[in-house]
Amino acid sequence: KVPPTINNESTKTFSQTPESAKDWDLLRASLLKFNNAALEIPLVINGRRVYANDEGSNRTTIQHLNPSNHKQVLANVTQANGKDIQDAIEASKLAKKQWYSLPFYDRAAVFLKAADLISTKYRYDMLAACMLGQGKNVYQAEIDCIAELCDFFRFNVKYASELYAQQPTNGTKGIWNTVEYRPLEGFVYAVSPFNFTAIAANLVGAPALMGNTVLWKPSQYAALSNYLLYTVLEEAGLPDGVINFIPGEPEFITNELIKNPNFNALHYTGSTQVFKSLYSKIQNKLVDGTYRDYPRIVGETGGKNFHLVHNTANLPNAIFNTIRGAFEYQGQKCSATSRLYLPQSKSTEFLNDLIGTLSETDSKFAPKNIAASAISGGDLHGFTGPVIHEASFKKLAGIIDEATKDPELEIIYGGTYDKKDGYFIHPTIIKCKDPNHKFMKTEFFGPILTVYEYPDEKFVDICKTIDETGNYGLTGAIFARDRNAIQLASDLLRYSAGNFYINDKCTAAVVAQQWFGGARMSGTNDKAGSGNILSRFVSMRNTKENF
Ligand code: ALA
Repeated sequence: KVPPTINNESTKTFSQTPESAKDWDLLRASLLKFNNAALEIPLVINGRRVYANDEGSNRTTIQHLNPSNHKQVLANVTQANGKDIQDAIEASKLAKKQWYSLPFYDRAAVFLKAADLISTKYRYDMLAACMLGQGKNVYQAEIDCIAELCDFFRFNVKYASELYAQQPTNGTKGIWNTVEYRPLEGFVYAVSPFNFTAIAANLVGAPALMGNTVLWKPSQYAALSNYLLYTVLEEAGLPDGVINFIPGEPEFITNELIKNPNFNALHYTGSTQVFKSLYSKIQNKLVDGTYRDYPRIVGETGGKNFHLVHNTANLPNAIFNTIRGAFEYQGQKCSATSRLYLPQSKSTEFLNDLIGTLSETDSKFAPKNIAASAISGGDLHGFTGPVIHEASFKKLAGIIDEATKDPELEIIYGGTYDKKDGYFIHPTIIKCKDPNHKFMKTEFFGPILTVYEYPDEKFVDICKTIDETGNYGLTGAIFARDRNAIQLASDLLRYSAGNFYINDKCTAAVVAQQWFGGARMSGTNDKAGSGNILSRFVSMRNTKENF
């Protein structure tokens, strides 16, 4: 009953051609709609919308600002209070039985329909919400909130149907063995990040597809696109209470939810630091006897992702992919290239060419409010957008300031920032004299790339250094023509990256093609975009019957 062929959703180009003119017009209309009035974003509990200004409410709101123009309030986001959270837990309990009792076909239909709605009717609204709210250019918005998002919904259906079809074999005549893929007994708590609306869709969609009910805390910095996603799911037929939308103060919500005996799983994407703290809080509650089940903890966190260039590499390819890996979406992908290792014999040529290409791209698409430009009929693409919020801006500006004072470091490109209108950090490249310098270990989560030049003959040593630097293991890439070098790197960097690329950038995993998830402190390695992640949200029961 599952659609026989599922293809990855394609993206629209929004090129300057007559064929794209209609797309531009539709996108501008959507941008204008969100641009002209701040939206009041409610909680949604059991399908009921709850606002801060409801009579007798003691709820607060926070402002969702446009990072390209921080004077503009895009939305006022209602914050859940303690009673709301208890109501959401009750709603998730009430909705559970009916939801998981539906035939899989009916649950799947909700997500397949939502994907179709996003790729058609709501495409331009989704793009506009991501561009305004999360500071994406149209290309980054297309690959996130359209292509990857639709892919997660559709491929999860395919993987789930394969999982449900698996049965144990019958050993002997007169015996019938079956296996049931039950949803977890309690609720799933999904915590989604600002940087990918698609990730939010998978964090809530994967457990819900398997018959679970979910409490979803979206990021306040992606509230616009995330609320739109919720409303699309509703239109696609999601029953009340299956996913409860509860924005609010993160620590408060977490504490309220994990102390509840019905808490059964965490599905998380965000910083390593927060994940570690959630992990240990949950373990403490487990030891205290709060739960009847071992909570499933599924998390995707940070990285200090590397590009390693060998002296046999195709340099233009390595340069092109390094620019994309490090600076697309302002380096705010968890997978973004953050440290670059260059062989000394090629380093000058590599850096000159990289800086030449980057400065052309960068000056052509100078820092700007891309959405505003699009609304006024200007360019939609841009290259240097804003970072997400003031705290991120301050942190990144501080890193640049620190680099200017440290004799071990040399800023060779960029190094400027400006927050007059939006939170703009100029793409920045910093040379490091010491491969063990903290700049080669620390995740910045912004458009700052650190570079170390290694002696060509020390290729094996540099692989070992990369492996031993820090505790992350998210993504990495080797650029080489020499198969021995590729083999060596692949072997020595076996656990340094859960997603390893050969002659390609270490970002932009495609659902079902590159299963995404890190090793080490970068996450629990459950692989989004694969069937594996779905199996984390089921509890299996084997039944043996004697005839
Ligand atoms: N899955 C996203 C990427 O690979 C984070 O870039």
